[in-house]
Amino acid sequence: MSGNDTARGTGVAHGKVILLGEHSVVYGRPALAAGLPRGATASAEDAERSVLRVEPWGVEVPADPSAEKSLTRAFAALLARMDVRRAVRVDAQVFLPGGSGLGSSAALGVAVMRAIDDLRGVARADDDALACSLAWERVFHGNPSGVDSAMALHGGCGWYVRGEALARVHPRHGVTLVVGDSGESCSTRITVEQVARQHEGHPARLERTFDAIAAVVRNGRLALEAGDMRALGQLFDMNQSLLAGMLLSTATLEDMIHAARAAGAAGAKLTGGGGGGCMIAVVQDPEQATAVKDAIEALGKRAFVATVGGPA
Ligand code: MEV
Repeated sequence: MSGNDTARGTGVAHGKVILLGEHSVVYGRPALAAGLPRGATASAEDAERSVLRVEPWGVEVPADPSAEKSLTRAFAALLARMDVRRAVRVDAQVFLPGGSGLGSSAALGVAVMRAIDDLRGVARADDDALACSLAWERVFHGNPSGVDSAMALHGGCGWYVRGEALARVHPRHGVTLVVGDSGESCSTRITVEQVARQHEGHPARLERTFDAIAAVVRNGRLALEAGDMRALGQLFDMNQSLLAGMLLSTATLEDMIHAARAAGAAGAKLTGGGGGGCMIAVVQDPEQATAVKDAIEALGKRAFVATVGGPA
């Protein structure tokens, strides 16, 4: 708890990039993900009625399970799952673009939960924290695998299988990524539902695709542990083809991915739910990172360089 006059609790949470394995992770296959240091922060204090304010979105919502707005329902679901009985005011800040595949909603939920727990002096076990975050995430995403929540909670580099605890992965060295934002935001709920419809219509084909992605993810772990960025790049490209085969890529993402590869990236793919949002390219040195970032920006898109998975 921090602050002088008013008792205040604070919380922070990570954003994330999925390196390999989005969507198939919903169907029990593994995913490899890495935390981004800047996700969300929150501060909580006792209040007359519960309210959540989020910047830079400029929104303030009460906790109401029957409201139309998802954020209002998610706040209510989180408070109920956390068993919060006294009203609380939470002021939160999100440092990630929404609907971009970087885990902004999970980061927000975890930061809010941690701020309230800090205020009330609650030390929550990992599995309970994950369950609380999932109560929040379900409002936004319907059927979340839990990978975004696990990464928001723990950061670092992880191997995630639905229903299991996040396992730490130890890359040989940090992985330098260029993250490009297509500027087309897309809700994960929508793309997860699209894949669910494809799975319903063609279960055998989709299961084969998920198995192929799982093989890519397993090899990706070996490449990370060996520090082989060329191999990791090739696996990014394979994963991208499999995701595009499920109609999760867009013309803009494809342009950005091709530009990144042409500028020397070892490989590139969409990250997160797809249908818009962000792509990631893996590079082997700082010069390549600059060239790839410039190539993405030349398309009029925002890009930043992030080194993930290095020693903590
Ligand atoms: C979203 O970041 C990742 C998806 O696999 C959905 C999920 O795992 O909940 C698309």
